[in-house]
Parts: sequence; C-alpha cells; structure tokens
Amino acid sequence: MYQPAITGTGVFTPEHVITNEELVASFNAYAEKWNAAHADAIATGEVEAKEMSSTGFILKASGIEQRYVLEKEGILDPDRMYPHFRQRSDEEPGLMTQIAMDACEKALTRAGVRAIEIDLVICAASNMERAYPAIGVEIQKALGAGGFAFDMNVACSSATFGIQAAADMIRAGSVRKALVVNPEITSGHLEWRDRDCHFIFGDVCTATVLERAEEAKGEHWIVHSTRCATEFSNNIRNNNGFLRRNRPDGMKDRRDMQFMQNGRKVFKEVVPMVSDHIAHHLEDAGWQAGDLRRMWLHQANKAMNDFIGRKVLGRVPEPEEQPNILQEYANTSSAGSIIAFAKHSNDMRKGDKGLICSFGAGYSVGSVLIERA
Ligand code: COA
Repeated sequence: MYQPAITGTGVFTPEHVITNEELVASFNAYAEKWNAAHADAIATGEVEAKEMSSTGFILKASGIEQRYVLEKEGILDPDRMYPHFRQRSDEEPGLMTQIAMDACEKALTRAGVRAIEIDLVICAASNMERAYPAIGVEIQKALGAGGFAFDMNVACSSATFGIQAAADMIRAGSVRKALVVNPEITSGHLEWRDRDCHFIFGDVCTATVLERAEEAKGEHWIVHSTRCATEFSNNIRNNNGFLRRNRPDGMKDRRDMQFMQNGRKVFKEVVPMVSDHIAHHLEDAGWQAGDLRRMWLHQANKAMNDFIGRKVLGRVPEPEEQPNILQEYANTSSAGSIIAFAKHSNDMRKGDKGLICSFGAGYSVGSVLIERA
C-alpha cells in the first residue's frame, strides 16, 4: 500500500463578474417585462405576477455578494437570461476542457509534476458538456497526460468523491499520479429567471494533483482517510438528460430542465447529515474535532456552514478555522471546498490537520482528512 498525498491545487477564475446589484437589476427588468406581457392574465388571476428580487435578501439568505461567469451579456439580457456560448467544431477543445487547462496547469506547476507523468485524470463535475467521449479523456489528451481518464458526476460532492477514487487507486498502486478536475459551468444549468435561485451559482474550475507521498517534490498534504455517503433525495434535481426529446413536451422550455431545489428542505436535511458524517468520520479515524486546525467546507450558503462548523467543533468557529469564499465566487458546486482549500492553506504548518468536505444533490457528502507533511 502507498500513502496518497495532495501535492498541488489550481483554480481558474473567469474574467467576468456579476454583482448582486447587476443581477437584481436584470432580473427585475425581466420580471417587469413578463408582468407587462401577461397583464391581462394577472388581472383575471389566471397567473401570478412575478415578484421582484432584492440584493438585501440575497446577501442575508446566502452570504453571496457576487459571482464569476464565463459569459455575462446573455445572462443579464432580460430577453435571454442565459449565457451565449459559441458553437465549437468537434476538432477543437470543448468549453470544459478549455477552462480545465488553466486550473490543471496551475496545479501541476504547484506540484512540480509534468503532465506526461499523470496516469489518471478524473473529470468530476455536476454536469458534462456532452454524453461522450468522456470530457476527462479530452482533458487527458489536451494536457498530454498518460494512463487513463473518466468522468464522474456526484453533483456538488464530485470533487471529494473524485479525490477518494484517486487516493484509493494510489493507495492500491494501480496509479501513481492523478489529477482530479472540476470544471463547473453552472451558468449553463442555472435558471436565471427564477427569483428563488437566480443568485446561487457561479462558474469556475479547480484541479487537484494527488501522488504517492514519497514522490512529492514540495509542500504536500497526507490524505489520511476519505469517506463518502449518499442518500436519495429529490430536493435538488435537474431532469435534463438524453431521454429528453423522447418525452411529451420534452423539448419545450421546461423549468425542470434546469437546476431546481427546495432550498429550505435542503438546508434542514443536509446540515445534520453533514455534521453527523464529519463527526463519525473523525471518530473512526481516531481524531478529535479539536485536532482540526481548519475546515474547508462546500460553499453553498454561509448560514449552513456556520451551523455545520458550530456542530462539529461544539463552539463558534473562528473565521480562519472555516474560511468561506462564497461571498466572492457564490456556489461553484463541486469546486467550492477546493477553492477554499487552495486559497486558504498556505499558512498552515507541518502537522496541522484539516478537513475538506463537500455536500449537495443526491443527497451526497464526501470528506477528506488531511495533514500538512
Ligand atoms: N429576493 C427577494 N425575496 C426572495 C428572493 C429574492 N431573490 N427569493 C426568495 N425570496 C422570498 C421568498 O419568496 C420567501 O417569501 P415568503 O416568506 O413571502 O414566502 C422568502 O424570501 C424566504 O424564502 P426562502 O426560499 O424560504 O429563503 P431561505 O431563507 O430558505 O433562503 C436559500 C433560500 C436558497 C438561500 C436557502 O434555502 C439555502 O441556501 N438552502 C440550501 C441551498 C443549498 O445548499 N443548495 C445546494 C445546491 S447545490
């Protein structure tokens, strides 16, 4: 058995920012137009008028102040409300592969590893740009990596599930060096016309290099143990899929073909599930909550993270014990905990212990116990 370690991370941040103010102005323009176009039906009570969004609600309910997106004009156009992405020929890299390159190159540089040395690429994300060939295989080729690649989708938990898969293969010896990549183009599946969720997501890509600890060239983190759990729920769901055109009205502009959630239920059900998961993982590993210098949690909602942190530590965590990045990036699905880790781990010292944890649709939760070597 070999000891797996995280030896590098990389974050690709898109150049376009949408502030809450810009987002709400666009949503409200859309809602006013929609209400004017449906004024008669609203007057007779056939349909309900759309209510306005507010920046005050968004910040208070989520902690989100802005989000990065790959394309901004289409999202903010009240007559469109989703991004414009150009058609790509099959001969050029897809959009997921394009954003993956920057994150992967940063992670490889950080680890001091050449792409050719990588013998496993896992593209772990909430949505794949196409059915096949696997995006992971395209990323493998674009990087010049060896070995093999595949895609996996466990929604917001994809990164930690990917890390577990890679760490287990390194432990067993079937691969030596792995790259777990999380290209999250959430702007493509967010329903920007829905007031309840239009503020939630942002685009990003993260990458994590894992290797045998004995081969690490610089700073690295020992992966002590990983744990994944799932429990079926319909409270976060997207019905888009390959059977779409075969179903009655399948190709219509249907609400259920984008991200949907029952946010209140998600909040209430996922917080205890994650807190218990972390507590049991720590206990089985022989770690105390007090051993954790830092927790890098999934970035969906600030209040959710505050609850989980308090439950795990048994007290209010200090801000540096549980850094959030969602105020800047919003919810970036599987990438959130990895952004937090990449941006808030350089100051940690040899022997410091930490926990990366992601959670979301499925329901799913994944945790990784690490120690700075
Ligand atoms: N602007 C103004 N008001 C809004 C609004 C907006 N954009 N969106 C909703 N509201 C209103 C609602 O209509 C509701 O009004 P009512 O009380 O008259 O019915 C009120 O604000 C509260 O809405 P609610 O949806 O209950 O808010 P909330 O406090 O639960 O916060 C979420 C909403 C989504 C931020 C929160 O539930 C959450 O973060 N849940 C977990 C999300 C998550 O982790 N998802 C994982 C995705 S991968």
